[in-house]
Amino acid sequence: MDADSASAEDREILHKLMRRSDLRSIFDGYDPARPLSKEEEMLRAVLTNVPAGEPERTLAAIDRFGWEHWMMNLGDGVKRDKLVELVRALPEGAVVVELGGYVGYSATLLATNAPSKSKVYSIEKHPLCLAIATTVLAHSGLQHKANVLLGTLTEQIDNLKERIRKDFPGRAPRIDLLFLDHAKEAYASDFVRIKAAGLAPRVVAADNVIYPGAPDYISMIRADPQYERSEIFKGALEYVSAEERAVGLIEDGLMVSYRVANEP
Ligand SMILES: C[S@@+](CC[C@H](N)C(=O)[O-])C[C@H]1O[C@@H](n2cnc3c(N)ncnc32)[C@H](O)[C@@H]1O
Repeated sequence: MDADSASAEDREILHKLMRRSDLRSIFDGYDPARPLSKEEEMLRAVLTNVPAGEPERTLAAIDRFGWEHWMMNLGDGVKRDKLVELVRALPEGAVVVELGGYVGYSATLLATNAPSKSKVYSIEKHPLCLAIATTVLAHSGLQHKANVLLGTLTEQIDNLKERIRKDFPGRAPRIDLLFLDHAKEAYASDFVRIKAAGLAPRVVAADNVIYPGAPDYISMIRADPQYERSEIFKGALEYVSAEERAVGLIEDGLMVSYRVANEP
């Protein structure tokens, strides 16, 4: 494929997205003639190379793209394996919330591995990321199991609670697994906000606690009597090669904490 035809294909995908009524407001004022961002290029790679309804292949395609161009997804190492283990251990009908959806990689991973009747709610503040993540989830056939909500937690907390209440009628709204992967300086305050809304999660997994680091969050959750057994699972930063790690680049970790068993 030459550069011109690739670019025509890119445009067609973007135009298709822009016509979708549920995403239209996101593209208001958007200039379709400007060069594609890395994230849009990634979407093109997924939509052109992966058949619909194949989430594992979508994840593999995003990983391939991430190894070539670096993306800030969770990536395909130790941290990802731990998150998959946590989500698979949840009960049927679990509620999973993530802060920081980006292009929908971890939302796809969580929705694919969550037990039946579970829901994933991903909060993402960047409109174009929301459009891409929503498209990735729909292409993977996961739109019934995962939703991306636009904004910050402060803006979305009431809506989130209402969505959980509606999706799981007859039981008090709750969060079984919270995945923190947005602005590192907001981990602590957003965690406090979630608890204040009466949604103290049973399990919390926080990415990037070593690099770039979230020291306020680490101290806060370690001192929180409602949480126990905090452990950091160390792995490399996403899409960093063994050679780079060997010279000291770049260690990271996923911190997992559990609400104490006798808490309601
Ligand atoms: C590291 S990426 C998330 C990666 C994603 N969880 C994955 O593994 O595929 C961080 C994302 O958080 C979003 N973000 C940053 N601050 C935010 C906030 N306060 N509320 C919601 N999203 C935020 C950014 O726009 C970005 O898309």
